[in-house]
Amino acid sequence: MGKRHEAESSGAGGDLLVHVYRSDSADPAEFRVPRISPMMVLDVLLAIQRMHDPAIGFRFSCRVGMCGTCTVRVDGRSVLACQTEIDDSTERIRIDPIAGLPVVRDLVVNTEPFWQEWRSITPYLVPDPNDEVGMDAEPAQIRPDSEERTEIDPSLDCIGCAACFSSCGIASARRDFIGPAAMNRAMVLIADSRDTAGAERLDVVGGESGVDRCHYIYGCSVACPKGLDPARSIRRLRKRRLK
Ligand code: FES
Repeated sequence: MGKRHEAESSGAGGDLLVHVYRSDSADPAEFRVPRISPMMVLDVLLAIQRMHDPAIGFRFSCRVGMCGTCTVRVDGRSVLACQTEIDDSTERIRIDPIAGLPVVRDLVVNTEPFWQEWRSITPYLVPDPNDEVGMDAEPAQIRPDSEERTEIDPSLDCIGCAACFSSCGIASARRDFIGPAAMNRAMVLIADSRDTAGAERLDVVGGESGVDRCHYIYGCSVACPKGLDPARSIRRLRKRRLK
């Protein structure tokens, strides 16, 4: 076992035993932190930092599930630390960095490989160069009640947290799979009638690193903290490519 740290005081609900991956040790460090209720995984990390080890490395920013920076694995599941509550009956947890990305320090990973895949599908809308632009131009819109909108809506709201990437055995194990988040984004843009780069994107997702690498284990869809279904997007991309 790694270093053992006792809590200075116990909260009303007793202590939670926490094992945390440390990049400077082969074994996880062990901490006891007083419980609060409700208690998020991020509360646990902040308590460890405050009470035991100011140098422990982890990331967070918004604390409301929007920035996607606080993703960690808790007992093997990739989750947002700020949105994941620890059940009152849980006595111990283990916290690790997300899988498939190089560890910088402790729970902090280098997300560049994830963003590299994201960039590969041209993750922004490419308008028709002949579209009228300027202050007076009427912006192209997709009607809220249109079929197109119905197709796109369930796949929006990705926050780039990489929980899907970490939960995908293929994306996290090798560097030549575009991965669920980028493919979900590709599907959103390909389905958008205002975009003109769909053919190029289909070429990318239909290539060697694309949709055919997916084995439909659905780890990505289970892990997504925003309730998106990247595996469904990959299926839809496959159909579009065949068309
Ligand atoms: S801190 Fe922003 S999503 Fe958790």
